[in-house]
Amino acid sequence: MKNRLLFIGPPGAGKGTQAQMICNSNDFCHLSTGELLRAEVASGTDVGRKAAELMSRGELVKDELVLQIVRTRLDCLSGGWLLDGFPRNVSQAASLDQLLADINQQIELVILLKLDDSALLQRLILRGRDDDTEEIIANRIEVYHQKTAPLIEFYTSQGLLEVVDADGTVNDVNSRIKSIL
Ligand code: AP5
Ligand code: MG
Repeated sequence: MKNRLLFIGPPGAGKGTQAQMICNSNDFCHLSTGELLRAEVASGTDVGRKAAELMSRGELVKDELVLQIVRTRLDCLSGGWLLDGFPRNVSQAASLDQLLADINQQIELVILLKLDDSALLQRLILRGRDDDTEEIIANRIEVYHQKTAPLIEFYTSQGLLEVVDADGTVNDVNSRIKSIL
């Protein structure tokens, strides 16, 4: 079974939901940069103050701040792991490769959770997180298409990418992911 994984996909595709299920049942470390950043904002740290305004508009937080947070969690990479929402652009992907090379590790599999924009919007509006307003969701989806979607080609060319249909129930999607792992 593969145990060094990335989940990529647009906001609302179910990365967090599915990552949690896979990590709970396999004892992998789940590293979500979105959750780590929200925790920094909630604690009012320096990083949190710098990140908050960008997050509230659905823009990406600066690469250096994100990498700073990831570096504090390198302990997460000692066993099986699943990165969710990181990397978010090609520059972060290159930094991740470097960071993994330094600790003699490699990504084994990248799963792209794929879902139509209209379904994403519906799911997120229902959830109602602070950044789940129609206007901010639209910007997050736009940022995804512009900055994160190029990772599809980046990881396809390395033979690492598998696409999973993220439509259907949580359990349907989970079964599809498990069958690939
Ligand atoms: P982040 O927290 O990563 O948010 P996101 O990418 O916008 O994605 P979401 O967490 O909203 O969606 P998800 O795919 O995890 O879906 P979920 O499982 O929650 O990032 C937030 C912000 O932080 C960014 O905008 C940026 O500012 C910053 N940031 C984070 N990482 C960064 C980085 N690396 N670089 C720079 N900036 C960064 O599901 C969504 C909803 O749908 C839930 O309510 C869930 O219950 C429901 N749901 C899930 N699956 C299903 C299903 N199959 N059927 C029906 N409902 C479902
Ligand atoms: Mg998430």
